[in-house]
Amino acid sequence: MTSSMCILAVESSCDDTAAAVLEGTELRSSVVASQDDIHRRYGGVVPELASRSHIQAIVPVIERALAEASIGLGDLDAVAATHGPGLIGSLLVGLSAGKAIAFARGIPFIGVNHHEGHLLSIQLDQPVELPYLALLVSGGDTSLYLAHELGRYELLGTTRDDAAGEAFDKGAKILGLGYPGGRVIDQLASTGEPKAIRFPRARLKPRPRARLFDFSFSGLKTALAQFAREGGTERHSLEDVAASYQEAIVDMLLETTFAAAVQTRCERIVIAGGVSANSRLRGRAADLGAEIGVAVHVPPLRFCTDNAAMIAWAARCRLERGERSDLSLNADPNLDL
Ligand code: KG4
Repeated sequence: MTSSMCILAVESSCDDTAAAVLEGTELRSSVVASQDDIHRRYGGVVPELASRSHIQAIVPVIERALAEASIGLGDLDAVAATHGPGLIGSLLVGLSAGKAIAFARGIPFIGVNHHEGHLLSIQLDQPVELPYLALLVSGGDTSLYLAHELGRYELLGTTRDDAAGEAFDKGAKILGLGYPGGRVIDQLASTGEPKAIRFPRARLKPRPRARLFDFSFSGLKTALAQFAREGGTERHSLEDVAASYQEAIVDMLLETTFAAAVQTRCERIVIAGGVSANSRLRGRAADLGAEIGVAVHVPPLRFCTDNAAMIAWAARCRLERGERSDLSLNADPNLDL
């Protein structure tokens, strides 16, 4: 495989159907079909509806990615697809499509770990040298890794309950703001006062065999529900509540991440995943980084939420090392990094 190889990547791990074409290091196309309108009325992703919707969207999304890249299937050198972690029914749609194209064309196939895609997504925008500390914050996961080199990611901490994105989404539901909640809270908070209400920040006690840099968000969500039940949302503006709630999430994420940076003496932090689109998180991370002399890198918004460009990038790194997956590769909803 040469470094100018043309890769089609497919991503369908949760509720976005995505395909991208990467030629060498040039992203030729990246198409994402969102299912937000389908899941909005339920206030969260309904797995059965997600997989059915992927089935309808997968071929048109792949066709669009090829058309926008001005190539046909015959121009591809390899195909990649996410094979975990995620919702099993969702994963199977993209994985089966990817394997079918590779089989039909007789070209290499590679399965990609969705989390590795997020951890490397920054490289689509700017080269960031490994090792780096990687905070992965999405709707389904909140984990802190020390990324030593490609394929060697040391887990330093993870959430003991809800993911940060879940905290945003559930918080928005409590406040009646609709789904997905992260973006709405972010927008409302931009004109609110982050210190208006002091929501609790979880300070985790060290537990035997627990990781040093774990997170917890369920107590905060419960505090918001109680605050709303006791009439707090009538005494304060929605903007102030959103800003204060967001501030508590951002505080917990950054406190732990920067403590890990100090302890591991890591000079670079990468923040990735859907919640890394949050403007307060991006702004405060940059300020804190400048203060203590740690470089903070966050991908552009289009690479924060789920996309296939990051899957293509991770695939390229692995294909260049000569790695391939067998076409018997199955989807694994709990795939570890
Ligand atoms: O990585 P991602 O696209 O996919 C899944 O994990 O499925 O992340 C989606 C999450 C959702 O919880 C959404 O509310 C959150 O990212 N999110 C945000 C923002 N944009 C998306 N959270 C806070 N602020 C945002 N601007």
